[in-house]
Amino acid sequence: MRSFIKLLVLGLIAIPLHTQAGGNPDHVKFPQGYEKDFKQYATMNRANQTQVAKLYANEAAVNSYTKDSKSGSGSVIVMEIYDTKKGGDGKPVAGKDGLFEIDSLAAVAVMENKDNWEASFSKEDRTGNWGFAVYNPDGTAKSNDLNCVQCHTPLQAQDYLFTYQKLVEFVKK
Ligand code: HEC
Repeated sequence: MRSFIKLLVLGLIAIPLHTQAGGNPDHVKFPQGYEKDFKQYATMNRANQTQVAKLYANEAAVNSYTKDSKSGSGSVIVMEIYDTKKGGDGKPVAGKDGLFEIDSLAAVAVMENKDNWEASFSKEDRTGNWGFAVYNPDGTAKSNDLNCVQCHTPLQAQDYLFTYQKLVEFVKK
């Protein structure tokens, strides 16, 4: 009986750990070396008003936006998520430019566009050809119970990207 309970408890612990992977790191890999290989196209305070995002696009994304204002297969977008310095009131401290002052890198969110995903990568876990995953700064998969697809799917008219306009403007320059 006792070992049955033990198994039950272990099972309950194991299930959420599995389903809480942020996105699909099995399919969407950490883009090693993005800091030097990708182009940084924007820095902004996040919509949550507590963190800062730095946004990067790989060469395939920049090239496809040059032609089409839409990502082709092979495009990868990275969002570095930074925790910020907090003032006495617990709110982030903003610099002169309005951007919050960065404390440390908290996570690296990745979107990868492919027109030939493995069949095991379910369509419901993607928006169009975009797959999602979130990583710790050291490149290990970060657990996160957010449903990536849910927020990004409604943005079909802008290539499923919140920062679509920023990328279009960056490429035009
Ligand atoms: C609650 C809604 C929401 C969910 C859930 C969500 N995102 Fe986003 N995502 C946003 C918003 C809003 C932005 C724009 C930057 C910001 O303000 O955070 C964004 C931006 C991004 C970007 C930069 C490209 C772009 O769209 O501008 C990436 C990459 C990204 N998200 C990946 C992910 C991953 C991976 C997950 C799942 C772990 C996820 N997102 C879940 C709302 C969401």
